[in-house]
Amino acid sequence: MHLARFPRLHLAHLPTPLEPMPRLSKELGCEIWIKRDDCTGMSTGGNKTRKLEFLMAEAVEMGADMVMTQGATQTNHGRQTAAFAAKLGMGCHILLEDRTGYNNDNYNGNGNVLLDHLHGATTEKFPGGTDMPAEMEKAAEAERAKGKKVYVIPGGGSNPTGALGYVNCAFELVGQANDRGLVIDRLVHATGSSGTQAGLVTGMKAINSGIPVLGIGTRAPQPKQEQMVYDLACRTAEKLGCPGVVAREDVMANTDYVGEGYGLPTESGLEAIRMFAELEGILLDPVYSGKGAAGLIDLARKGEFEGQRIVFLHTGGSVGLFGYDFAFRG
Ligand SMILES: Cc1ncc(COP(=O)(O)O)c(C=O)c1O
Repeated sequence: MHLARFPRLHLAHLPTPLEPMPRLSKELGCEIWIKRDDCTGMSTGGNKTRKLEFLMAEAVEMGADMVMTQGATQTNHGRQTAAFAAKLGMGCHILLEDRTGYNNDNYNGNGNVLLDHLHGATTEKFPGGTDMPAEMEKAAEAERAKGKKVYVIPGGGSNPTGALGYVNCAFELVGQANDRGLVIDRLVHATGSSGTQAGLVTGMKAINSGIPVLGIGTRAPQPKQEQMVYDLACRTAEKLGCPGVVAREDVMANTDYVGEGYGLPTESGLEAIRMFAELEGILLDPVYSGKGAAGLIDLARKGEFEGQRIVFLHTGGSVGLFGYDFAFRG
């Protein structure tokens, strides 16, 4: 599998560490390791760095002078896209959808929003339920009419190009495990716009690793989440030159930990954030990695991982804590 055939900017801090979590493992009674993709670099890091290495390389190849993307108000993807654009001297415009209805100052101006602006990006707000891809196309056309060369990145950077970043992560993780003689029984992580899981599943299958990937949902119900991941995995496998390598049953998502909706903190997610912070000194977030860890913790408590070695992929997001400070009061 020859990823070097694809344009890529080598800006991520790789390989990310693969570390044991002894205190959390003891608490949960099973062996849990963590893959630190919160440490990928570019505006603190997170899962978007790996995707943007491939996406922004395409932007450079097409001679773009501006990138545009969209997401929720506290989008991590927007913040990291803004950092890449700054590094490459491109303009960046981010369309923000109000998916929560929170009107407090920190949610709307701190955390990721603060950093979007620090990186020089412009932002524009839209009400929840807006057709964001359509709005982004309109905004891109308006910029093109002014002479800008705009590269449009879908929400979460989730298309076959972005997913290559997580094909690469699968290769990296298997390499680390092989070097250390560490058998991994399962990989668990938060899944949303689907590019992370699609890339991981495709990569794991393409090299016949035998490592199952379990996505913990943060937004969509299970059938929709799994279908989204599967569709993107199929397109990613085609791009890689191994069509058909992913079967529908390779895609597994558990969406029991979404709670009331996307971006709305849950008790189990907040408990997971506190446990990782207090037991391992690791910061999660209430929108993605906290809900992913809530699934990990609950399934471990139910004995689903008994006798297994689990790797939790930390996809980042802790910048969002500063937009969600209200969730930790009282
Ligand atoms: C911190 C974090 N974790 C997980 C995800 C989910 O990844 P994906 O959108 O590739 O499914 C995101 C997506 O925005 C994220 O920001």
